[in-house]
Amino acid sequence: MPPSPCRALRRDDYLPLEPTDCRHHVLAYLNGQYLPRSAASIPVEDRGFVFGDGVYEVWRVVNGRLFETARHLARLSHGLSELRISEPDLVRRDVLDEVANRLLSESGLLEGEATLYVEVTRGVAPRTHQFPPAGTKPTVFAMVNRFVPPNDLRARGASAITTPDVRWLRCDIKTIQLLPNVMAKQAAAERGATEAIMIRDGVVTEGSHANVFGVLDGEIRTHPLGNLILPGITRTIVLELANALSIPIREDAFTEPDIGRLDECFLAGTTTDVMPIVRVNDRPIGRGTPGPIATRLFTEFRAHLDASCAAMPASP
Ligand SMILES: Cc1ncc(COP(=O)(O)O)c(C=O)c1O
Repeated sequence: MPPSPCRALRRDDYLPLEPTDCRHHVLAYLNGQYLPRSAASIPVEDRGFVFGDGVYEVWRVVNGRLFETARHLARLSHGLSELRISEPDLVRRDVLDEVANRLLSESGLLEGEATLYVEVTRGVAPRTHQFPPAGTKPTVFAMVNRFVPPNDLRARGASAITTPDVRWLRCDIKTIQLLPNVMAKQAAAERGATEAIMIRDGVVTEGSHANVFGVLDGEIRTHPLGNLILPGITRTIVLELANALSIPIREDAFTEPDIGRLDECFLAGTTTDVMPIVRVNDRPIGRGTPGPIATRLFTEFRAHLDASCAAMPASP
């Protein structure tokens, strides 16, 4: 039996995403078991720990319903297959729904907003770079967190810095190796900014945990899909919404010097939704306030998120 979600929480029950509300974070799923997060532990020889050898996904959850289940599962499956990690049962939709529902319900998160985090590593084996013997079971972990959308920041508009994109050449895989993203985000935080916009060979690739869009000469511009960016699920939805609104789109990267001439700049991501960027490197973008296209796309995105989660059948 899982522990009651009402027991007193200890500090290490909390591994919050930001921004978050930690009151209900109790239950975790690890290799088929449900247990208090504070009791979930990984052997030191887990390849995720020693090599960052694994992938992850984050879902947005509204009133107990996962948003865009299939697209996130497809991206997880793509990452596993590219890294040749065998696909655990959790990558099946019915299993994911069952695990998510139990985590959410027993953590008191069936109402309001939450996130579901899933991580799969190549498993536990003596440390050697090459793959462990066939049959080594992947480590499978999931947890849920209360989520509070950053709406105050959205209303003001966020700020960003630019930073070199020093990542490897398979940024399309959502690996747990996030050190360049961590360093970029920390550099932003130390300069009082929200996000770091990464620049590779003079062009804007993406943010530390969101895709980046610009509005230039009347068109929405963003880096094309490929090995240099993560194919963001929110990115896809934003492009679908912009298309439906007949806003011109060009999936063509803009350059670092272009940033100075943008009418608007915005981010898109699972925990970001659509977020206007009003300053980059302390210089205003457009008028230095959230622009009409980002504002419209956020309104449409939020309506789509709420409608898709409301339309899904209620979890048993
Ligand atoms: C590097 C990077 N780019 C983009 C995104 C946005 O992807 P999604 O919209 O699927 O959350 C993320 C999300 O974590 C990310 O880490």
